[in-house]
Amino acid sequence: MDDKDKVDIEAQETIRKVRDEISLLDAAGRQLIFTGARTFNGWLEEKVSNEQLREIYDLMKMCPTSGNCCPIRIKFLTTDEAKQKLEPILNEPNRAKTMLAPVIAIFGNDHKFFEHNDFFAPHRPGVIRNRMEENPDLVLPWANLNGTLQAAYFILAVRAVGLDAGPMQGLNKAKADEVFWSGTDIKTNFVCSIGRGDEDTVFKRLPRFEFNEVCEII
Ligand SMILES: Cc1cc2nc3c(=O)[nH]c(=O)nc-3n(C[C@H](O)[C@H](O)[C@H](O)COP(=O)(O)O)c2cc1C
Repeated sequence: MDDKDKVDIEAQETIRKVRDEISLLDAAGRQLIFTGARTFNGWLEEKVSNEQLREIYDLMKMCPTSGNCCPIRIKFLTTDEAKQKLEPILNEPNRAKTMLAPVIAIFGNDHKFFEHNDFFAPHRPGVIRNRMEENPDLVLPWANLNGTLQAAYFILAVRAVGLDAGPMQGLNKAKADEVFWSGTDIKTNFVCSIGRGDEDTVFKRLPRFEFNEVCEII
C-alpha cells in the first residue's frame, strides 16, 4: 500500500462519498434496467437527440474493461442516408425493423486498442502494448471480450436514460467492416437500434435458467 499516490487517495475519498450517498439501485431502477426492460422490434416516431447519445456513452464509458483497454468504437446512424448504407448488409428478418429505428448504433472492436495504452494506463506506460505486441494471439480475445462487455453496458445505459434497445448480430459483418470501418483495424461486433420502443412489437418473454440450474456456491 506504500505506492499509493495523491490521486489514489483522492479517488478513495470520492468513492467513500459516493457510497455514503447511495448504496443500491432501488426497485424501480432494477425494473427499468433489468427485470422490466425488454428487447424491442419496432419504434415509435420519437426522435433521439444527440445529447441523449452522448449521455448513453458517458454512462457506458465508466464501466470496467481489462487493463482499462476500452476497445469499443461506435458509429451512430441517424440520417436516412447513413442508415441506407447499412440496409443491404442486414440479414433479411432484421432489415425492415432496423431501418425504422430512430438511431442505429454499430459497435466495432478496435484491434489496435493497445496503441492507446499510455492514455488509458498512464501509471503503467507500455505494459499492455508490449504484452499485445509480444503475444499477438491475445489481441482478438481481448478486443472481443472487452468490446462486447462495453456493448452490453451500452444496452443498460440506453435503458438508464429512458430509451429502449434492439441489439442484433444478424448482419454481414465483413461487409459492415468494409463500409463503416475501412482503413482501420476495427471489426464489427453487432448493431443496436435505439429509440422509444413500440410495445406492440415486443415478443413473449423467453425463459431464463433459475439460479440453481447454472450457479453453484462453493
Ligand atoms: C448480441 C445480441 C444479438 C442479437 N441478435 C438478434 C438478431 O439478429 N435478430 C433479432 O431479431 N434479435 C436479436 N437479438 C435479440 C434477442 O433475441 C433478445 O434480446 C432476447 O431474446 C431477449 O429478449 P428480451 O430482452 O425481450 O427478454 C440479439 C440480442 C443480442 C444481445
